[in-house]
Amino acid sequence: MTVKLAIIYYSQTGTNYRMARAAEDAAIKHRAEVRLVRAAEVASKETVASNPAWEAHAKETEDVPLAVPEDLEWADAILFGTPTRFGSPAAQLRQFIDSTGKLWAKGKLADKAVSAFTSAQNPHGGQEATLLNLYTTFYHWGAVVVTPGYTDPVIFQAGGNPYGASATVTEDGKFDDLVLDAVKVQTKRLLDIAERLKA
Ligand SMILES: Cc1cc2nc3c(=O)[nH]c(=O)nc-3n(C[C@H](O)[C@H](O)[C@H](O)COP(=O)(O)O)c2cc1C
Repeated sequence: MTVKLAIIYYSQTGTNYRMARAAEDAAIKHRAEVRLVRAAEVASKETVASNPAWEAHAKETEDVPLAVPEDLEWADAILFGTPTRFGSPAAQLRQFIDSTGKLWAKGKLADKAVSAFTSAQNPHGGQEATLLNLYTTFYHWGAVVVTPGYTDPVIFQAGGNPYGASATVTEDGKFDDLVLDAVKVQTKRLLDIAERLKA
């Protein structure tokens, strides 16, 4: 049975983009049908241009399609990715999520298998709070939240976050590659659960 996975992310400087691509690799390997889409920028052009890393990443990913609510309706499984902003998801991803009211009202978001990953600059910079914050929305949708738990040794090796893969990223964008392995494990688990739900 082919599972349809939407990977919906926002990334200012590339960390969550790399995590999203790792998820896409894992999903293709496990024969899922994948849409990798990004949440639209909400900051002004001037604000983006004031930060060279932000501007460069925006340019590098301008060909990645923008997320639309239909991606959620299409998907059996949804994986979100966002930087941690003061212990919460980025406004860009939140803006997309807040555009899903019509789907929610029609019950179209219920029973989807959903999970999320994040990154922050500090090891205790709010990664878990960001994921739990996102998961609160998914409970309102009636979605089935799928977490990695400690179902694979790589979760411990990558920092031990059972709520979802999370990177601790330096100011120059470096983080442990094991986090990408944790994203892959999380993606496979999400697909497995989605397949069982679909069956
Ligand atoms: C407005 C703002 C708020 C942030 N808040 C936090 C925070 O609460 N904790 C933390 O460790 N890092 C924080 N950061 C750092 C980001 O989480 C980090 O730059 C991001 O994870 C990089 O992801 P990206 O490369 O995908 O954009 C913040 C950055 C910005 C710009």
